[in-house]
Amino acid sequence: MFGNPQSSQTSRSPQAAQPAQPTQLVQPAQPAHYTGTAAPRPILAATDLVMDYTANMPRAQAGHAPVGTIYPGHTLALNHVNFQLAEGETVAVMGPSGSGKSTLLHALAGIIRPTSGTVTFRGTDVTHMSDADRTKLRRSAFGFVFQSGQLLPELPAIENIALPMMLSGADYRQATDVAVLWLERLGLRALAAQRPGEMSGGQMQRIAIARALAMRPAVVFADEPTGALDQTTGREVMSMLIDVARGNGAAVVVVTHDPNVAAFCSRTVTMQDGVLQ
Ligand SMILES: Nc1ncnc2c1ncn2[C@@H]1O[C@H](COP(=O)(O)OP(=O)(O)O)[C@@H](O)[C@H]1O
Ligand SMILES: [Mg+2]
Repeated sequence: MFGNPQSSQTSRSPQAAQPAQPTQLVQPAQPAHYTGTAAPRPILAATDLVMDYTANMPRAQAGHAPVGTIYPGHTLALNHVNFQLAEGETVAVMGPSGSGKSTLLHALAGIIRPTSGTVTFRGTDVTHMSDADRTKLRRSAFGFVFQSGQLLPELPAIENIALPMMLSGADYRQATDVAVLWLERLGLRALAAQRPGEMSGGQMQRIAIARALAMRPAVVFADEPTGALDQTTGREVMSMLIDVARGNGAAVVVVTHDPNVAAFCSRTVTMQDGVLQ
C-alpha cells in the first residue's frame, strides 16, 4: 500500500510543510534505528586518525623520505585524532587556520581516506569501503554545506534544491514538489525562481542548507558555512541550520571561527596542529 517508490521522496519531505498528509505517512523525526535506550552507540566514530598529506606525494616532493616518515618541521594534518558524534548531536569544530579542521571533516565524511586510523558510521568501517560504496554512503546519509560556491549558478533555487533528489532517482516533478515544501518551511518561497547570482550571500547559504536537508541526511557537515557572511547574517543562517537539523534528527559537525556561531551547537571541540582538544 505504501510500497509505491513514487511516494518515497514525498514522505521524506518536511513534516511541518505537509499538513494535508495522513499522519501515518509522516516520518518520525527520530532516526529510524532509535531504540530509546540510554547511551546509544555513536553515529560517527573516528579512532586514532592520522592524515599525512605527504604520504601521497611523489617522493621527490616529500623530500625523498620513505612514505610515512615524519621529519622535523612537518606537521600531520591529523595527529592521532579520536572523535565521536552521537545521533542528532551538534558539534562545532574551532581552531586556527591550517590546524586540520577541514581535513577532519573530510575524513569523517569519507571524502578523503586517512593515512591510518578508522572512521565508522553506525558501526560500519567507512575507511576501508570501496570508493563507490563511500560515494553511495555520502549521497544517502550525509549532507554538505560549504562556505560558498556550492550552488549551480545557472539553476534557480528550486532546481538547486531538487537536483540531489533527482540524482538519487526522483523525477523532476517529485523533486521540485519537495523543494517547494522546503522553501516554504524555511520562509524562502520568494527565492524559488532566483538564480544564485541574484541572491545575497545569506540567501545562498539558506538555499544550500535547504538543499542539504532535503535529502534528510543523518549527518550534516558544514565547513565554515558562515565564513563569507557578516556576523548578524552568519548567526541567523547558523540558527536556521541547527534548528532544521534538530527538527530532522540530523547530527551536525560545523567548522567555524566564530564563537557565537559555535554557541548554537551542544558541544565545541578545538583543533590545534592536527590534535583535537
Ligand atoms: N590537499 C592537501 N595537500 C597537502 N596538504 C594539505 C592539503 N589539504 C590541507 N593540507 C595541509 O594540512 C593542514 C591542515 O589543513 P586544513 O585541514 O585545511 O586546515 P583548516 O581547515 O583548519 O584550515 C595544513 O597544513 C594544510 O596546509
Ligand atoms: Mg578549512
